[in-house]
Amino acid sequence: MDLGLKDKVAIVGGASMGIGYGIARTLALEGAHVVITARREAGLAKAAATLKAAVEKAGSKARVVPIAADCRRAEDCARVVEQTMAEFAGIDVLVNNDGAPPLGALISFDDTAWAKAVEQNLMYVVRMTRAVVPHMQARGGGGILNITAISAIQPIAGFGLSVATWSGVIGYAKTLSIEVAKDNINVNTICPGYIETQRLEKVFAADGGDPQVMRRKLEAEIPMGRIGSVDDIASMVALLVSPRGRYTTGTAIQVDGGLLRGVR
Ligand SMILES: NC(=O)c1ccc[n+]([C@@H]2O[C@H](COP(=O)([O-])OP(=O)(O)OC[C@H]3O[C@@H](n4cnc5c(N)ncnc54)[C@H](OP(=O)(O)O)[C@@H]3O)[C@@H](O)[C@H]2O)c1
Repeated sequence: MDLGLKDKVAIVGGASMGIGYGIARTLALEGAHVVITARREAGLAKAAATLKAAVEKAGSKARVVPIAADCRRAEDCARVVEQTMAEFAGIDVLVNNDGAPPLGALISFDDTAWAKAVEQNLMYVVRMTRAVVPHMQARGGGGILNITAISAIQPIAGFGLSVATWSGVIGYAKTLSIEVAKDNINVNTICPGYIETQRLEKVFAADGGDPQVMRRKLEAEIPMGRIGSVDDIASMVALLVSPRGRYTTGTAIQVDGGLLRGVR
């Protein structure tokens, strides 16, 4: 199936590695031009070079543009959109993805930690979306996709800063989906389960025990019996942000190998 992503312009956040990189790679291999962001310039430049090589090898003409930015800073969000418009004169796809606030017991966090979590998980999505939607409207449509986590719908102790702020993102996305449907823009959220990335390695080691023991324990909880890959997430994202996926909007979809226990 041709997703119709050729020559579309996509902004993908937190894309120097992990889930964001996997999404950028999949979109670029589908022919979309990708703007990738992350804070650390060296890692971002390396990721852009690797991605460009993969795109060229696949015979695609997609362009890859790295822009160093911290999603917690309003001025960085504005700059990413301005530079994308200067480069491509339009935006079709926005993928909001980044790192995450620290783990820990909810009552251990002070107001400063909460404010940072809100900036990172919620205000990032609010600012990027607010800046991008007018350009999608001018273009006649677009796809917006937020990456959160399975913990946003099935909370896990210790993940409270993310759970609370991502619940806000899911509510924001649902409301926005209703408001911009008339503009042919869809808005969805993906809630990944356990996905093979550097971040997950840190989660395995978080309780100070043997990471391999923790890995096996988590794998045993997953009906499919394995940790997911970034491609498992990226394939779903590519469909949802493409013209082929446009009628699906306002959803929060778990991509988790069956980890979520519940019927909705
Ligand atoms: N891996 C999993 O199992 C899993 C499961 C569910 C949900 N998630 C969520 O999915 C998202 C991505 O996770 P991941 O595993 O791919 O993480 P990762 O491998 O650590 O990659 C995170 C990416 O985001 C960038 N980033 C971090 N903070 C940023 C900031 N303030 N501004 C801009 N870019 C930033 C990082 O680059 P810089 O550090 O250079 O900025 C990097 O490119 C996270 O929100 C995570 O909580 C992950």
